[in-house]
Amino acid sequence: MAAAGLAQCLSHRLDKPGCCRYYRAAICRKLKDPLAIEEVPSRPIQPDEVRVDVHFCGVNFADILTCRGRYQESPPLPFTPGIELAGQVMETGTNVSTVKEGDRVISVINFNTMAEQCIVDQKKLWQIPEGVSYQEAAALPVCYGTAILALEQRARTQPGETVLVTAAAGATGLALIDVASNILQAKVIAAAGSDEKCKLALQRGAKSAVNYSRGNMKEELKKLTGGQGVNVVIEAVGGDVCLAALHSLAWEGRMVVIGFAGGSILSIPSNLLLVKNTSVMGIYSTRYLKENFPLFSKYMSSILQYCQEGSIKPHIGRIFKLEEINEAFEHVTQRKTTGKVILSVK
Ligand SMILES: NC(=O)c1ccc[n+]([C@@H]2O[C@H](COP(=O)([O-])OP(=O)(O)OC[C@H]3O[C@@H](n4cnc5c(N)ncnc54)[C@H](OP(=O)(O)O)[C@@H]3O)[C@@H](O)[C@H]2O)c1
Repeated sequence: MAAAGLAQCLSHRLDKPGCCRYYRAAICRKLKDPLAIEEVPSRPIQPDEVRVDVHFCGVNFADILTCRGRYQESPPLPFTPGIELAGQVMETGTNVSTVKEGDRVISVINFNTMAEQCIVDQKKLWQIPEGVSYQEAAALPVCYGTAILALEQRARTQPGETVLVTAAAGATGLALIDVASNILQAKVIAAAGSDEKCKLALQRGAKSAVNYSRGNMKEELKKLTGGQGVNVVIEAVGGDVCLAALHSLAWEGRMVVIGFAGGSILSIPSNLLLVKNTSVMGIYSTRYLKENFPLFSKYMSSILQYCQEGSIKPHIGRIFKLEEINEAFEHVTQRKTTGKVILSVK
């Protein structure tokens, strides 16, 4: 973009937020390369679309995998990563009836949220209730959506059951502890890779914790459950942690696989399933947008309501600026996260 054009664009932006024809976005031009922040042109919106002024967007493992070409979905290059946002409605298409200019909203979509502006189908927006900040709201869609879908929809967790959460101090881990303890009244055993992370998980509601970077996780879980095992496992690490968790299931226990943060995918020994009548299942939470939108939407609304009531409280570990996106990605891959990492776009 020519310097004069950029200056005019920036002065427009100062005069009237949102009217600028160019906006800043994180761009992945080549897989595995660092992302760039570029000025990109706005496009007109379609009748069912809404232009959102992004305030914060979540950083997810999925974003990093996508930019490395290792995610289940691969957008054509170049693309802007990001699958969730919290922001304000700037402009609505002629058919839009669900939101109006100025409304505070969250969204979950396939890519494009790591930018100052994002165009979203009106269906995929949920209003942020009064009292919930943009920061908190940005931490909800993917992690809390996954937590509630994994615990309720997939594992059918019952009050009083024991739930083992691995990678428990991560963004999804803490959301799982919050939902399992405070919404479903389950007893959470947190499993994490350091004593500090175990301590945080205990502070956030877990009843007990196991550090899987040392000791024997299977034996520790046996002791903690009086030999009974756990009713539900929500597993995010893979490899040996996944195997130890599988061994620790109680009679008719259920394990939901949510990810492979450790990088190793376990081949499930199916004899273990037979002996104690256990089940192993998976979840790809945002796939519900396509396969069962009413269910996904119902859970989004519940989460926002729980947050407004104070029943759940997202833990934001770090906020990076949009320009610091590569540092934010490094923070996640270097296993430094505690709670949610978000990008501030303003
Ligand atoms: N299926 C779905 O719909 C869905 C939705 C959201 C997230 N997920 C998955 O859930 C997992 C956690 O996501 P998140 O957003 O909660 O991430 P996060 O906050 O970055 O937490 C990831 C945690 O994984 C653990 N980990 C173990 N080995 C690791 C390694 N080699 N590199 C990085 N982390 C490692 C770390 O905890 P310790 O140090 O305690 O081991 C880390 O804190 C990811 O695999 C993600 O893809 C899946």
